[in-house]
Amino acid sequence: MLKFDFFSYTEKFINKNEFADLLDKKNLILDKFHSSDMIGWTKRPSKDTIEKILETSKKIKATSNCLVVIGIGGSFLGSCAYNNIFKDYFNDRNFEVIYAGTSLSSKYLQDLITYLEDKDFTINVISKSGTTLETTITYDILKSLLERKYSIEKAESRIIITTSKDSPLTKNKKASQIFEIPNDIGGRYSFITPAHLLPLSLNYDIYRILDNYFEGLKLVDEAYTYACIRNILFNKGYFVENFSIYEESLSFFAEWLKQLFAESEGKANKGILPISTIGTRDLHSLGQFIQEGHKIIFETFFKVENSSSLYCNEKDLHSINNIVETSVITAHNKGSIPCNVIELDYLSEENISKLIAFFQLSAVFSAYLFDVNPFDQPGVEVYKNEIKVNL
Ligand code: PA5
Repeated sequence: MLKFDFFSYTEKFINKNEFADLLDKKNLILDKFHSSDMIGWTKRPSKDTIEKILETSKKIKATSNCLVVIGIGGSFLGSCAYNNIFKDYFNDRNFEVIYAGTSLSSKYLQDLITYLEDKDFTINVISKSGTTLETTITYDILKSLLERKYSIEKAESRIIITTSKDSPLTKNKKASQIFEIPNDIGGRYSFITPAHLLPLSLNYDIYRILDNYFEGLKLVDEAYTYACIRNILFNKGYFVENFSIYEESLSFFAEWLKQLFAESEGKANKGILPISTIGTRDLHSLGQFIQEGHKIIFETFFKVENSSSLYCNEKDLHSINNIVETSVITAHNKGSIPCNVIELDYLSEENISKLIAFFQLSAVFSAYLFDVNPFDQPGVEVYKNEIKVNL
């Protein structure tokens, strides 16, 4: 179960008329949303696609003990966030999924190659455009490793390509399976495409993920309210949103959120800068700035009500964590920091799948309130063009 509190700790910063004005725009924003040609993520993937994912998943498990996902940005963050939340911190018992292509670090890749020497592995290269530099370079390097290890002919059965219909990745590239990312779904909204469902299918029931995600898509009113609160706070000079988490396993979820909001609304000199902090670690770092520094930050706290019990001197550690989080909300609020609170009864798959849908809706509504296109990322192209000149 999810509970959203967008008012208790923001009330004193928000004028009721401002909120009413934005509520008046709701139908207009919803019309814009429903008439967009980039909302393929509001439709369930076909039965054939799901079956193909499950078949491929079985084959990977039969031939490999690890899947290397190669992708960056929206092509990896969704499944990576989900995997990180639910895997064990140590001695993970899940089928191993490794992420590569998220940087050009030769040390990372060299260490990965060494690690893979003793593993049977499959690679899944994921890129909607099929041209992303980090992804294509990593793919070429790991494909060569597969060919050296298994022979050129056999390597093919260990390569899966996930890309768009006319992507250069499928030209002259041999793969055992090719999955399509539909044209009407952009990278950061692609959680329910094979880009994320295939890596997730190795450890999770993707039917359940989809059911919960589509439940989450019903949270339109809550998502619109959140978008309005963000917009009002921005107009009062709160230009930065801190996603505040108190469970380290949510750190990649915070990365997913940052990418979703930054690329959806950070354009045309507008948008809220998303940052994240991990409690309690960052109370001893950014916490100082948030409490007493320049008042440009508002926060969205994630509060997990129940967790496994671990006692210290007869005190439940999770309750202590929650008391700390609640105290921080109160202290920050007293220090003129507006705070939203999203409460999860458990850190469950149900809640996370719903939240993914909720935040996708919020990001779109928020971008429309800023009057920018949520589905493009023209700023990313600027550095890509510089690379083309220099490389
Ligand atoms: O959300 C987006 O569209 C981007 O973050 C892309 O996912 C990212 O740039 C990777 O692009 P591609 O999948 O084309 O390699």
